[in-house]
Amino acid sequence: MAELGLIFILVIYLTLVLGVMSFVVYSAYLTHFQDPLVSTPDAVIEKLLGILPPHLRGRKTFYELGAGQGKVALAVARKFPRLRVVAVEKSKFLVWLMQLSASRQALNNLRVLRRDLFKIPLKKADIIYLYLTPRSLKKLSPSLRRLRQSALILSLDFPLPEKRILRRLSIGSHRLFLHRG
Ligand SMILES: C[S@@+](CC[C@H](N)C(=O)[O-])C[C@H]1O[C@@H](n2cnc3c(N)ncnc32)[C@H](O)[C@@H]1O
Repeated sequence: MAELGLIFILVIYLTLVLGVMSFVVYSAYLTHFQDPLVSTPDAVIEKLLGILPPHLRGRKTFYELGAGQGKVALAVARKFPRLRVVAVEKSKFLVWLMQLSASRQALNNLRVLRRDLFKIPLKKADIIYLYLTPRSLKKLSPSLRRLRQSALILSLDFPLPEKRILRRLSIGSHRLFLHRG
């Protein structure tokens, strides 16, 4: 009887380990083994939605570069219907998921682009949201140099290497860095 219990615990343990391993490999596959697919937590999205209003006078354009499944871009597009929102993502599957959510929610102000974020011209961007690794943020520096000075860049957990920090907000264990273009 004790042996059966032991086998049962072993099977559960192996199932859990295999489950976690498959999840990690699947996430890495979805993101082409570069920036891991980690979504912005809801508390950070709430904070972001609260920060944006003073920056939205006039017709503005918001970019999320490396948008994942689009949690941020969708929430921003829903909350601010007059704002043009552009979500850039390279994974075919994640782009498809975002397009599906956008059409289900009838969001006409959201454009989803399947593109390499490092090749996106950002001249028209007013606000940019980033949740990328420090390595990707460094690689993005040349594109960010071409931004308008008035542009606002929000980067989660890692500051931009070439820009001065305007504000730093703590949200639980996360930090949101605000920079100017
Ligand atoms: C840490 S996740 C952030 C997801 C989303 N921005 C969020 O905060 O919930 C980074 C995302 O960037 C995407 N990504 C990484 N490199 C990219 C590239 N060169 N072009 C477009 N997307 C890229 C990955 O596929 C992944 O979905």
